[in-house]
Formats: sequence, C-alpha cells, structure tokens
Amino acid sequence: MDSKVAKHGITNSEILPQHTDVVRPDNEEGVDHPTSKRDPTIVDEKAADAVQQLSGLSDDTGLQDSESDGLETEQDRLDLQHHLFLLTLRGKLHLAPIENMQLHNVMDIATGTGIWATDFASAFPSANVLGTDLSPIQPEYVPPNCHFEIDDAEDEWSFSYKFDYIHGRMLASCFKSHVAVFQSAFNALRPNGWLEIQDIAIPSRCIDDSMFGTAFERWIDLIKEGCAALGRDFGRVPQYKQYLQEIGFVDVVEKQLSWPIGTWAKTQRMKMLGAWCKENVLSGLQGWTMAVLTRGLGMMPAEVELLLMEVRNDINSNALHAYAPIPLQRGGVYG
Ligand SMILES: C[S@@+](CC[C@H](N)C(=O)[O-])C[C@H]1O[C@@H](n2cnc3c(N)ncnc32)[C@H](O)[C@@H]1O
Repeated sequence: MDSKVAKHGITNSEILPQHTDVVRPDNEEGVDHPTSKRDPTIVDEKAADAVQQLSGLSDDTGLQDSESDGLETEQDRLDLQHHLFLLTLRGKLHLAPIENMQLHNVMDIATGTGIWATDFASAFPSANVLGTDLSPIQPEYVPPNCHFEIDDAEDEWSFSYKFDYIHGRMLASCFKSHVAVFQSAFNALRPNGWLEIQDIAIPSRCIDDSMFGTAFERWIDLIKEGCAALGRDFGRVPQYKQYLQEIGFVDVVEKQLSWPIGTWAKTQRMKMLGAWCKENVLSGLQGWTMAVLTRGLGMMPAEVELLLMEVRNDINSNALHAYAPIPLQRGGVYG
C-alpha cells in the first residue's frame, strides 16, 4: 500500500493527518477539495428551516430560508445528517485517497436513504455504486450508475465481483459484531481497495463542567444503562481502528473531528456545524431514547418524555458545552 501512496506522490500525513486525541470544537479542523456535486451550502430547505428556527441563526450560517415546518421523519433526519457530514468535510464524500483510482465497483453498507450513494454516483459517473440496507427506504429515481439492494450486512457476503471502495457511515448501533462486517468488507475488496468508516462516538463529551448535574448528563447515563440491559453495545466506535488493524487492513488512519451540540462554539464555522448538529440531535432524541429506556429500564413513557423535555431545554439553553466526537477511519487492502 505504501508504494501506491508513493506512486501518487503524496505522503500519508498529507492525505489524512493522524490524530489520537479528539479534536474539540474550539480547535477547528477540516479538509478541502470538494468532490460532491452537491453544493454543501445549498441544503434541503425543510432541514435548513428547522435548523434556522431552532438555532436563531441568520443566513450567515449558510442555511436558507423556507416556509416549511421542520423535520418530520427519520428519513428527513438522515438526509439532514448527510448535509452535516458534507459541511463537516467541506463538500467531500470521502477521505480515503481514491481520487486517482479507477473506481469500478463501490459499495455503501447500510445506506439508509441512499443519499450518500446517490451523491457519490453523481460525482463518480464511471463507478458502479451499490447501496445495501435492511430497509427499502431508498429513492426510485437515482443516477443510472447507482442501485440498491435489500441485504443484511451481517449475513455472509456473496457478491460475484470485488469492490474498489466500501463506505459505511453511522453504523455504531447496527451490528452484533462490527468486526465480522469489517472482515466481510476486507474479503470483498480487491487489492489496493479501501474501506472507509465514518461514525459518531457515544457518549458525547464536554469541554468544561457545564454538563455536570444536567438532564443531558442523566440522559447519557440512562442510555448507557438501557443499552447494557438490552445487550446492545454503542461503545465500539473508539475500537474501530484497532479492529481494522487486527483484520489486516494496511495504512489504517483515523481522523478525529467533532460536532458541537448547539451554537456555543467560538468560530462561525463551528457555530454553523453546531446548529446542524443540534437539529440532528433534537430530531433523533425521541427515537434514540424511548425504546431503550422503556424496554431496557422499564421506565414509563411519560417519565421518558419528561426527561426528554429537560434534555431539550439543556440543549436549547446553549449553556451546555457538549460535543459529539466524529472519528473517521480508513484502511486499505495490501496490493
Ligand atoms: C443510522 S442509519 C445510517 C444510514 C446511512 N449510512 C447514512 O449515513 O445516512 C443506519 C442504517 O443501517 C441500516 N441497518 C441496520 N442494521 C443493518 C444490517 N444488519 N444490514 C444492513 N443495514 C442495516 C438501517 O436500516 C439504517 O438504514
């Protein structure tokens, strides 16, 4: 893999600097050279409106005006989250060094609404892009080089061809064994191919003691407890890098980014990411919480609603200086 990197005349650190510490929201970090054809400042109007209403921010965040009523479904939230990733990566859809590769076959594991796969297919028209998911929630009208299949990533992979690049995003809660899925990806990649994983590390962190004693802190503890009671492990994301190395991926690099939850950070860019992240969290809160706390801990739905009301107040107060670590990993297959 080193020879491939040298062939392009780029060193690893130039492609993707290695960090072990989380980059806090007050320490801005990012990458340039957009490859998405979607302008990250032109965003879904419904999502933008919801963010703007909630954040009280004006147009200098890059969000647009609209008269819609905010996010309605989990699918809207997933699409908003996609925009948040595009804004975070300054328009890029990937960090693996694939720009100069001949991309024949690309896969998006657990593609959700398929928005990443669709964008990627538009940006790389010569690549054949496959998005797989358990749920048939992908759109019908997509670029001709993009298609979707209903597939459980935890089943044995039986594709008749190899992939040049496999992408997976926000999969922390999806699998019984992430190692097994990453191993399947390794086996399905051709030599010199890349796997890239983008995820959110749970629990959220805080730059100071403003989380101490809040409902938000209580919510985090209860979610951890509820997940443990249900035998679900959301906490594997920090181990992804090690998993990739143990499986045999080479040139494994991890980049740590972060999203402030709310508009409390200093710079305008971090405020903008924080506004988007806040809307993402507020929209996802109910879905992430209700089943875990009622089924896992036996809490009453009304009790959970009360907790969530207080958590929303904490998030909306902007006094809570919490952020979500966003580690991005990529690993190659020796060729
Ligand atoms: C949080 S969403 C992320 C969607 C997408 N990757 C994105 O970033 O927008 C997780 C998705 O994983 C899918 N999923 C969960 N378990 C899966 C499995 N075992 N195989 C395939 N898809 C799975 C869910 O149906 C859901 O669409």
